[in-house]
Amino acid sequence: MILEIENLCVDLGEFKLNGVSLKADRGDYIVIIGPTGSGKSIVLETVAGFYKPIRGKIRLEGRDITFLPIEKRNVSIVYQDRALFPHMSVFENIAYGLKKKERNSSIVREEVRKIAKILGISHLLHRKPDTLSGGEQQRVAIARALVVKPKLLLMDEPFSALDVKTRENLRKLVKKAVKKYDTTVLHVTHDFEDVFSLANEVAVMKDGEIVQTGRPEEIFSRPLNDFVADFVDGD
Ligand SMILES: Nc1ncnc2c1ncn2[C@@H]1O[C@H](COP(=O)(O)OP(=O)(O)OP(=O)(O)O)[C@@H](O)[C@H]1O
Ligand SMILES: [Mg+2]
Repeated sequence: MILEIENLCVDLGEFKLNGVSLKADRGDYIVIIGPTGSGKSIVLETVAGFYKPIRGKIRLEGRDITFLPIEKRNVSIVYQDRALFPHMSVFENIAYGLKKKERNSSIVREEVRKIAKILGISHLLHRKPDTLSGGEQQRVAIARALVVKPKLLLMDEPFSALDVKTRENLRKLVKKAVKKYDTTVLHVTHDFEDVFSLANEVAVMKDGEIVQTGRPEEIFSRPLNDFVADFVDGD
């Protein structure tokens, strides 16, 4: 098991995560869905290390990371807004995190070129982020997250600022990239298309809890309760 989240409880005063448990094997692509405010982002941010749980455990490759500092977790996170460094080139943006781990600059160059090729941004490496389209910027953000070969890739609505066509394109590229790197993914979304085309496992959240997990077809054809049935029916 790559990721084991066990009975995770986070107390933010007005909002609580109530005993969230989730497991992922290597290469699993888990998509988390649920209404706005149900705690999807809090789950990702707790796994990333931004919140300290009051109960529960997070293990990554068997190691307890529940209270490990963010930078020691070997986890990358991609947000909806690209948050690239504006004064750096695309190459420098992608290389930034890797340079801290890898001193050999020819290896850094090679790794940046490799991920850039997979994500179709090789021709953009000299450009500054503000000269890129939204979809191109998001590909850079994903490249930057993957180039360090994280044990876990977290993505919080990574495609939601993009148009339908660009989303479709990015799904294909992400699918290819995570497969090549054998990356385990937790991906939060409001778009069921992400579930159908990317997920091998789905978790449905409501009020700080996971109310159902299963393969996509299970969630959609055999919802456990009225809430899940309504949620996957409408939206
Ligand atoms: N630092 C915080 N302190 C207190 N409450 C918070 C904090 N951060 C988020 N919340 C609350 O926790 C709840 C869950 O937030 P979260 O961002 O995880 O929702 P979400 O499921 O990601 O929603 P969305 O789909 O809109 O992104 C919300 O009601 C939010 O207002
Ligand atoms: Mg959110």
